[in-house]
Amino acid sequence: MKITVLGCGALGQLWLVALSRQGHSVQGWLQVPQSVCAVDVISPQGQESRLQLPANNTAHLAASDLLLVTLKARQVSAAVRALLPQLQADCAILLLHNGLGTREELPVLVQPLIMGTTTHAAHREEDKIHHVYAGTTRIGPGNSQAQQASAIAQVLNQALPEVTWHNNITASSWVKLTANCVINPLTAIYDCCNGELESHVAEIEAICREVAMVMDREGYHTHYESLLFYVSQVIRSTTDNISSMLQDVRAQRHSEIDYINGYVLRRARAHRLSVPENQRLFDLVKRKEESYGQNDSALSDRW
Ligand code: NAP
Ligand code: PAF
Repeated sequence: MKITVLGCGALGQLWLVALSRQGHSVQGWLQVPQSVCAVDVISPQGQESRLQLPANNTAHLAASDLLLVTLKARQVSAAVRALLPQLQADCAILLLHNGLGTREELPVLVQPLIMGTTTHAAHREEDKIHHVYAGTTRIGPGNSQAQQASAIAQVLNQALPEVTWHNNITASSWVKLTANCVINPLTAIYDCCNGELESHVAEIEAICREVAMVMDREGYHTHYESLLFYVSQVIRSTTDNISSMLQDVRAQRHSEIDYINGYVLRRARAHRLSVPENQRLFDLVKRKEESYGQNDSALSDRW
């Protein structure tokens, strides 16, 4: 397949390595005007893959069968909009990010839109991407044109397993969103690893109750108890993790709060529901972000 990966950070580089290893014709799409994308990934087993892949080639983009978008949620809509005029009508666009709400920011697409979530864990240290946990990826249709696109899951599964296709991906994304609504702001506020949240039971329960209520109004039937069970499992299985939001806050970068608790707030407002615990955590994280740059040691927004 001809593939363009938009956003060559931690997750993007995992996919660039995995897809090129399978013999796919891949390129990276970068913000900077460069024709080469340097990729350096250390696998969970400690093996290093260093590649120089093509980048920003407009002919490659125009012939791509898949645009794999591995940007932070707030970067997605502007970056995808800018490339849309150059994509062929049957180029599938796969959005792989934490949170929800980017689909609503995009115009009506002619291309198949695929949405996904992933539990891989990778982070950048200097110029290398450390792939620390080989997780799973769930993808599914984000518009009617993508309903027949399940073969893409098989292609991706061969490159970086396990990838599974879910016809009702939005319901599944809401469940993953609940874990992010709990773990991300709480770890950022308490400046702690995921496992330490086990002592914050009341807040965890309150968030799960609110998300279950909003999900229900959205038409995704769930039980508060099953969300709570799922979130507790994620906390236990990622006990030593520094969540992506805590990493962002520590580095004084914008977090994805607008697409996590912020998305719950927007959907709650649409249904005239009150979600005070999500609002409180959202406000606390926003306050942290607003304090960036208020001292001399403020870090840049970039790594
Ligand atoms: P990341 O390392 O920040 O990667 C995003 C990359 O996109 C950065 O290299 C960024 O460059 C680049 N970029 C920003 N705007 C761009 C544009 N307009 N055009 C082209 N490139 C652009 O983020 P990530 O960790 O890979 O995460 C991506 C998404 O996956 C997030 O939603 C995250 O929550 C989710 N996720 C990540 C992991 C993980 O383990 N990393 C796991 C699960 C889910 P600059 O840095 O120069 O801005
Ligand atoms: O954003 C993150 O850090 C991860 O999605 C999760 C599941 C909360 C684990 O740290």
